[in-house]
Amino acid sequence: MTTRLLLAIETSCDETAVAVVGDDLGVRSSVVASQVDLHASFGGVVPELASRAHIETITQVVARALDDAGATGSDLDAVGVTSGPGLVGALLVGIATAKSLALGWGVPVVGVNHLEGHLASVYLADRSVPFPQVALLVSGGHCMLTRALAPGRYTLLGETVDDSVGEAYDKVARFLGLGYPGGPVLDRLAGEGEDTLGFPRPMLAEGYAFSFSGLKTAVVNHVRAHPEVGETEVAASFVAAAMDVLCAKIRRALEEFGDPAVAIVGGVAASPVLRARAEALAGEFGARLLIPPQAMATDNAAMIGVAAWHRLAASGPSDPGFGPEPDLRLRFS
Ligand code: KG4
Ligand code: ZN
Repeated sequence: MTTRLLLAIETSCDETAVAVVGDDLGVRSSVVASQVDLHASFGGVVPELASRAHIETITQVVARALDDAGATGSDLDAVGVTSGPGLVGALLVGIATAKSLALGWGVPVVGVNHLEGHLASVYLADRSVPFPQVALLVSGGHCMLTRALAPGRYTLLGETVDDSVGEAYDKVARFLGLGYPGGPVLDRLAGEGEDTLGFPRPMLAEGYAFSFSGLKTAVVNHVRAHPEVGETEVAASFVAAAMDVLCAKIRRALEEFGDPAVAIVGGVAASPVLRARAEALAGEFGARLLIPPQAMATDNAAMIGVAAWHRLAASGPSDPGFGPEPDLRLRFS
């Protein structure tokens, strides 16, 4: 049987990404054009600039992804695209492109929830994925602990009541003058210091909810009161506090449900500190650690392609009138 091919597009934030993914979930190509340099001097993503950059680069990125896959339009059987959540103008560019390509090629198009894309990114490391999973989604915009019961079927255990952990990373990094995005830099500095400052571990004992804005404030207050404190000590102490909270919640869920697998997805899953701690925690419970390859933890279209195949199998193509849903949430069972 020949493999069918799907072209996937992701433009929800500041990466213009296109991938070609087979219905065997094999990734034939994955191209990510990052706008980080464009937004860096503003200390965060500027929505208007993001939309403009997407429209300028998307056709080249589609052409590269097709070329890398050794495919042309006539080889494609479907198109998948992120429909939300994200920046409305940025999403519009991806959706308009996806619909046009699907129309031109005479193939169906399916809208994908970006969060479902992250949850599907574990398939990019290993295509045999056990369920149920305790699944932690930690990105710039989201921080939630779920149980994945099957592809596309989740229950919510808890989420952040204020900032996401990625947002806390970015805000602390910006305060320290480390640039945007802050995750990778803070993580690297943390590896050079020790957790000596004992920052608070917010909501450690409270079920499955998270809160990170108090931790960020504690860091800012400490640095203001002690301007001589070393950057590496601050980074190490912040990262240790954030990771302690994430790991405590995963531990609680593994104790409560005894699931055979734990999944860690979203941009913060690129953190070597989180990857090492999750590995140790999974090992302790005899659970399998499901985690995307480091380069596929942050936004990419390959994960959208995997989720698009799951969506097509579960509910078929999207209604042709679908549009961007900036506040789209995950649907929980
Ligand atoms: O999933 P993602 O690429 O975009 C959203 O869907 O939000 O996540 C981006 C977030 C940013 O907050 C960034 O600082 C964080 O992921 N991040 C990291 C690392 N790489 C990216 N956080 C910690 N360590 C990293 N190595
Ligand atoms: Zn994302």
